[in-house]
Order: sequence, then C-alpha cells, then structure tokens
Amino acid sequence: MINMPVCRISGQPLHAFLDLGMMPVANAFLTKAQLAEPEFKFPLRVGFCETSLMVQLIETVDPAQLFHANYAYFSSISRVMEQHFAQLADAVAAEFLYDKRLPVVEIGSNDGILLAKLAAHAPAVGIEPSGNVAAAARARGLDVISEFFEPGLAARLRAERGAAQLVVGANVLCHIPDLNALARSLDVLLDAEGVFIFEDPYLLEIITQLGYDQIYDEHYFYFSVLSLSRLFAAHGLRIFRVQALPVHGGSMRVYGCRAGAQRATEPGVETQLALERQHGLHLLQTYVDFAERVRQSRAALFTLLYNLKQSGRRIAGYAASSKGTVVLNYCGIGPQLLDYICDNTPGKQGLYAPGTHIPVLPIEHFAADRPDYAFVLAWNHMREIIAKEQAFTQAGGRFITHIPNAAIV
Ligand code: SAH
Ligand code: TMP
Repeated sequence: MINMPVCRISGQPLHAFLDLGMMPVANAFLTKAQLAEPEFKFPLRVGFCETSLMVQLIETVDPAQLFHANYAYFSSISRVMEQHFAQLADAVAAEFLYDKRLPVVEIGSNDGILLAKLAAHAPAVGIEPSGNVAAAARARGLDVISEFFEPGLAARLRAERGAAQLVVGANVLCHIPDLNALARSLDVLLDAEGVFIFEDPYLLEIITQLGYDQIYDEHYFYFSVLSLSRLFAAHGLRIFRVQALPVHGGSMRVYGCRAGAQRATEPGVETQLALERQHGLHLLQTYVDFAERVRQSRAALFTLLYNLKQSGRRIAGYAASSKGTVVLNYCGIGPQLLDYICDNTPGKQGLYAPGTHIPVLPIEHFAADRPDYAFVLAWNHMREIIAKEQAFTQAGGRFITHIPNAAIV
C-alpha cells in the first residue's frame, strides 16, 4: 500500500506536484575526508493541500538535524539585511510598542541582527535553538533562550516575563514544521492588544519568478496570505496588514493580532487575497503548471552552461548558498561545468558543495583567477554582488543567472 502524504496543518491529502530529486541537506558542506563517506540525501518533493491551501515539503528532515550548534547562516553577513532590520525595528517601536515593561519576543533571532535593535526600545528576548548563532548574539549582550519556540516555552515566558506586546520572526515561520503549535504558542504568549509580525519568502514571487531554489530542507512551507490567514483564523488570530518586501528574492510581511483585538483589518489584506486568487494560488493546476516551467528552466540552464564549457570558457559559481545546492543538484551541474564556487563565508571555504562536491574557495581566489563567467548562486544578493565585483566585469567577465530564465547578464 502506498501511504498518501498528508498536510501538516489540516491532515488532509497532499497533492505532490514537484519532484526536485534526491537532495542533500542544502547547507551540509563537506570536508575532504567526508567526500569518501556516503552522503545523506532525501527526496525533495513539494505538495499542495486544497484544504489549508498550504504549499509544503512532503518528506522532511528533523529540525534537530538542521538547527544545531553549528548552524551555517549568520544573518549579519549582509549589509542589505542590516539596513532592512534597522528600518523594521524603528517602525515597530514607533507604531506598536505601548508598554516599556512588557517583553518583545523575537523567534529565530540568529546572531542578533534584529534583536539588538529591538532591545533599544523594550525588554527583548530572542528564541534561538542554534547554539553557535545564539552565542554570537549573547556575546553582544543580548538576552537569548537557546530552545525551539513551542507552547511550553511560550507559557514559561508569559509566566516569568509577562504577556508579549510584540512577537516578531523573520525567515523563521517557514522553518517550523508544526504551525498549529506555533499558532497556539502565539495565543498563549500574546497580550490582549499585542501584535505579531512575520516575514518569509513569498509564494507568489516564487511562482512568478520561478524561484524554485527557495525550496530546500529548512523551508517546510511556502506561504501565501491565503494560507496564512486560514491558519491563523483557525486559532483565533487575524492578519490585519500585509506588506510586500524586496528582500530574499521577494518576501511578504504579515502583521497579526488576536481576532477580537481593537485594531481594524486594513483594506490591503483583501487586495492581496484577491491578487493571489487571480494568480490561482488556491488551485492545484497553478502548481502543476509551475512544475512544468521549472523543468523547462532546468533544461535551459544546463544547455547554456554546457555550451559555454564546450566552447572552452571557464565558469565559476559565485556564492555557496543553500539555493545553489538545490539548483546544482537538480540541474546536474557539477565539477564538469563549474571549476569552483567562491564564497565570503570563512566557515564554507575549503569545503565541498553538498551533492556535487564542487570545491568552495575564498572570494580572493575569484579575483585572482578571473574566470570568463560567474554563475550567481545567490540571485537574491545579485545587486550587491554586481556592485562589488566591478573589476571582474570591467576585465570582460560576465555574470550568469537562472532567475527568471537562464541568461548571461
Ligand atoms: N531571523 C534571522 C534568521 C533567519 S534563519 C534572519 O532573518 O536573518 C532562521 C533561524 O531560525 C535560524 O537561526 C534557526 O536556528 C532558527 N529557528 C529554527 N527553528 C526555530 C524554532 N522552532 N524556534 C525558534 N527559532 C528557530
Ligand atoms: P544563503 O542564501 O544560503 O544564505 O547563502 C548566501 C551565500 O552567499 C553565503 O554563503 C555568503 C555568500 N555571499 C558571498 O559570497 N558574497 C556576497 O556578496 C554575498 C551577499 C553573499
């Protein structure tokens, strides 16, 4: 008997629509010694639930295997994100903080990029299970609890520190496999007129830009306002504002409160819901069509790189991102096409890319080596990368992207 996969929210059947093949953990970079050992891989498949309207992974990796003492992503590596979070902290302090004594809770506070700015306005506590990034935030003098956010912890926080006037989380909701428990935790923790704010990569952008490389082990869910408002409504919570953001290739920030709170729901919420219906985000066929476009995009990218290589050009990968792991493995792009991947994260340099085993080298190597082409594996940072690599383009080097279509830019 074949087990029908079920939705993690509704328990109803899940319709599988996209198969990205056997995939390693996107951030599991390997040492030279590990290349000889068998590599953990899992089937990276995506499904849609017609009841919850939630797009989600079918097979998943245990969070404890992903968020641990050696988490690879330090939020503060990007200057663009520093500015982004500074603006968020100022805006919420001006609009939503109403009691200097009540806590602000940040879920997934990582190295403290946002928490540090919130702490200037109210007693701020970060919830961050990955020990190394939590330690980096504590070293900055921040208050961090190194645990997974769940209802038991929410109850403890409320008892010890009071109800939260603000719960905020950036790029973390999609990392939490049990969203019903997350909503229950909010219900436990939030003050009567408290506000919660979450921002994550936005499904409509993924669909329209063909950003299928946002799909990997850490992202259990891909959100629309349609699916999130349904989830929150089932737990007595309500989205009152939505705001599209340019970061991470196109994100959506949702602002919520208790269903019975005084705050009015703004007209922009209904406008966004209508736009999503217009794009068919509530229909399985939309996702089936998306999967077909993803397969075409794979063929076009492989052909572009293969033809350049056949004509004697040298190509490097630029940025050893998690998205890159997905693209390279799904499209069959290995050391036969890319000489190496350069990256500015010291912890990744000298290692080998998951699945493809392409060596990861320091950015300085790229500057000295001057390949003919650089295939950008962090297209969400494209502008920042092009701006800082003018010497490469001035010397005749060209960048390649695969978003929204394979192209030399
Ligand atoms: N907010 C930061 C970090 C995003 S990465 C930013 O936007 O840059 C996601 C972070 O969430 C990781 O640091 C991860 O360890 C943490 N995380 C994952 N699951 C979590 C959970 N259940 N509760 C709290 N944090 C979690
Ligand atoms: P991520 O999308 O999985 O966080 O990975 C982004 C990677 O891109 C990270 O390893 C750092 C790298 N990077 C560079 O090498 N140079 C840059 O200018 C930027 C912005 C990122």
